[in-house]
Amino acid sequence: MNYTQWLNSATAELAKNCQFDPYLNPKTDANLLLQFVTKRSKASIFAFAETELSNAEQQQLAELLQRRLQGEPMAYIIGEKEFWSLPLKVATSTLIPRPDTERLVEVALDFAYKRLDFCENLQILDLGTGTGAIALALASELGKKAQIIGVDKSLNAVQLAQQNRQNLGFSQVSFLQSDWFDSLQNDTFDIIVSNPPYIDKQDENLTQGDVRFEPLSALVAEQQGLSDLQKIIKNAPLYLKSEGGLFLEHGWQQAEQVQQLFSDSLWHEPKTEKDYGNNDRVTWAILR
Ligand SMILES: C[S@@+](CC[C@H](N)C(=O)[O-])C[C@H]1O[C@@H](n2cnc3c(N)ncnc32)[C@H](O)[C@@H]1O
Repeated sequence: MNYTQWLNSATAELAKNCQFDPYLNPKTDANLLLQFVTKRSKASIFAFAETELSNAEQQQLAELLQRRLQGEPMAYIIGEKEFWSLPLKVATSTLIPRPDTERLVEVALDFAYKRLDFCENLQILDLGTGTGAIALALASELGKKAQIIGVDKSLNAVQLAQQNRQNLGFSQVSFLQSDWFDSLQNDTFDIIVSNPPYIDKQDENLTQGDVRFEPLSALVAEQQGLSDLQKIIKNAPLYLKSEGGLFLEHGWQQAEQVQQLFSDSLWHEPKTEKDYGNNDRVTWAILR
């Protein structure tokens, strides 16, 4: 069987399953699987379309295709996901980084550049770092102007983030296992960012698509999804420098409640920003 024949047959099989699983993307998924197994780019597969697959390649492809047909996310199957144009290793220990979270990076970066007008160097904390996506994206833009710490409760996530940092060569970033702020010493930060778990455990979306395969510890929080957001907002003032900013991603229907959580007199008036789908997704405030 050659590349074209395998692509046609895998695309048809994935398309058949689309009626049960609308998250499948037959042509793209088949192509990504073939790229992964043959270690060739899409262009190279196209150029050498008549190349015969070895028996080992065919067997590996059959196994991976079955996993995709069961709904397993492509990112877990190929072990990689791009975020902020950075190739990140992913694993089932944590969330697959979402394009929506790039909005949180943009909003935090905007504040970072303004603060760099009067600060030489920034200290940044990423709470619940997962793959390290947000911390590494910020590092890719701010270079040596920022020292960044990412923390996660999951040791596996911390090890994954460390691997990503090493692969990207960002020595200005470090990762640490911590239950939110617990393992931090007397550090204070110019910026704290977080995409914490914020989904209500009853949310029916938890039974659909990629999230079925992701750890609940990365997704779900008590009090209709608000308990971790609340903890972070309550404790952040102890870890922020004067006029430092706290930036939080949250669910599209949670902006009002998150603004309420910021209503303490310690904070300047909080602001909510929309994501690319025009939903309220990032709320932030500056410490007085
Ligand atoms: C929604 S995921 C976000 C991952 C990553 N920041 C991203 O945006 O792709 C939330 C992360 O918070 C971590 N987490 C959950 N509870 C935590 C806690 N008490 N302390 C630190 N991290 C926690 C989870 O392990 C998970 O990696």
